[in-house]
Amino acid sequence: MNNLDYIVSEARSAFAAISDPDALEQAKARFLGKNGQITELLKQLGKLPPEEKKTAGAAINVAKASIEMALNERREAIRQVALAARLAEEALDVTLPGRGEVCGGLHPVTRTLERIEALFRSIGFEVADGPEIEEDFFNFTAMNTPEDHPARSMHDTFYLQNQDGTVADTVLLRTHTSPIQARYMKAHVERYAQLEKMPEIRIIAPGRVYRVDSDATHSPMFNQVEGLWVGEGVSFADLKGVIADFLRSFFETDDLVVRFRPSFFPFTEPSAEIDVAFMSGALKGRWLEIAGCGMVHPDVLRIAGIDPEKYTGFAFGFGQDRLTMLRYGVNDLRLFFEGDLRFLRQFA
Ligand code: DAH
Repeated sequence: MNNLDYIVSEARSAFAAISDPDALEQAKARFLGKNGQITELLKQLGKLPPEEKKTAGAAINVAKASIEMALNERREAIRQVALAARLAEEALDVTLPGRGEVCGGLHPVTRTLERIEALFRSIGFEVADGPEIEEDFFNFTAMNTPEDHPARSMHDTFYLQNQDGTVADTVLLRTHTSPIQARYMKAHVERYAQLEKMPEIRIIAPGRVYRVDSDATHSPMFNQVEGLWVGEGVSFADLKGVIADFLRSFFETDDLVVRFRPSFFPFTEPSAEIDVAFMSGALKGRWLEIAGCGMVHPDVLRIAGIDPEKYTGFAFGFGQDRLTMLRYGVNDLRLFFEGDLRFLRQFA
């Protein structure tokens, strides 16, 4: 074997032993690089006599071409191996079913609210709003709740802290949506101050409220919907009619009875609890308490700047979560607030 054949076969076996692309390029340098064996031979061509130069040059070029070919074959082989490995690793199972689009749904308590709002809007009520961090004045004082009322105590109500750690006793997390009534009446009176006759107030006021309370039927945060109708000659009979109509529409049945049971609230006089009983279905025959209500106390009207001799009104406060539990047959209030999709999906 002459020297050239030897170099070519040396290159072939060197390339064959390599499976890393970088190492292959380094091996190439040994033969074809600046100081590679083939390059050295070409450099020496000049020293040969002219008659030998031609044949020697041709032979070296043939050897060079063979090495280049071996190199390219090896490059391609390495590339194929890497590609095959990658394809195996990133295998795509085209038979897998797609993930599909998951469609969100409204929370059952939100659905209830939308229903309540639609029903009250249909009889001319507006939806009013107010802050969850409320002033003591609107939450209690304007609602005719005296200083020594137990609802004002620390263990019933969430007060807020000042930066120095002391209790900020003029602001709290509202314990009911009733302060929205007070705010709305005050703004209404100011807006229509020049008018001889004040336009009627007809609002519902939904929202989150907070109390230090927690068990299967009480949560420290829950939702209420307050209602208020103030005008000339508004009576308890109107209250009864509005509530009974609402409940029949809300539960989509005439098969229920409504009872007004005497009660006490500082902001209404007289006051009542509203109980409902279904005449059929799973809850048949049981009285269920669902709201408080009454005729707005004259002092509450007076504090808002409304003359109680001229105008009267009624108010009510529903537990929105309670209505939702009854409508959907849910027996634990906490399920609404835990965010468990297995529960929530049933309403989507
Ligand atoms: N604010 C009362 C509560 O949270 C509910 C209530 C009772 C609201 C009677 C009213 C009402 O507007 O007239 O327990």
